[in-house]
Amino acid sequence: MIDLHCHILPGVDDGSPDMETSLRLAQVAVDQGITHMLLTPHHMDGQYVNHKAAVMTKTEAFQNALDKSQIRLTVFPGQEVHITGELLQAIDQNDVLFADEGSRYLILELPHNEVPEYTSKMLFGLQSRGITPVLVHPERNQGFMQDPDKLYEFVSQGCVTQLTASSYVGVFGEHVQKFTEQIIDAGLGCVFASDAHNFKGRNFKMTQAFEKLEKEKGVRFAETYKENAKSIINGDDVIFGEIHHVQGKKRKKKLWGLF
Ligand SMILES: [Fe+2]
Repeated sequence: MIDLHCHILPGVDDGSPDMETSLRLAQVAVDQGITHMLLTPHHMDGQYVNHKAAVMTKTEAFQNALDKSQIRLTVFPGQEVHITGELLQAIDQNDVLFADEGSRYLILELPHNEVPEYTSKMLFGLQSRGITPVLVHPERNQGFMQDPDKLYEFVSQGCVTQLTASSYVGVFGEHVQKFTEQIIDAGLGCVFASDAHNFKGRNFKMTQAFEKLEKEKGVRFAETYKENAKSIINGDDVIFGEIHHVQGKKRKKKLWGLF
């Protein structure tokens, strides 16, 4: 199993504080069946800056520590890049890490409380450079919750979505869990990742999420999510089924408004 999003690179952001914790978290990941992991410390989110070169060096050191501890996990350098006006400049300056070596998939975070006005333009700007944005945890974004049509719009324009495993199993509460299910039902989900930060709360939960997905959507559907993770890390095409609008609050309100 591949995990495309986690914060277990030691001492770089609000995830693991030190190497010892990181090794223990890595063991949890391995116990969950994770074999490969993209390390995605926050970058340019207004709080954390983790330059490409530094992440690469630290990832190598972490891999060495994993090997020494005989933890069978392969880690790759990555970043969770926050949407910002300086993003294109950072790409031009070669300070952004992509999910794949071919610089196709960008792990992109929006603010939690909204979908900024300029998002659509920024996504288009990225896509016109041949970059496919991977929108992380849309199920936790209040802007998408209020207007799920925006998510439909971005996916229909070619963006990929990464749902967080723990959201799907209820770690962030019923509301987020329900919205995750709605996104999946609408065909607007593409891949699961852990976004693991620590032992309590934001842990891996990948096994639990896949068990639930298999039960609710079938084995083949769950396999597609796993294959998509592999495709993203390899820079290949992902598989989306048919997509629909999320049956969210806004659309219901509109209907009431008509009558
Ligand atoms: Fe994250």
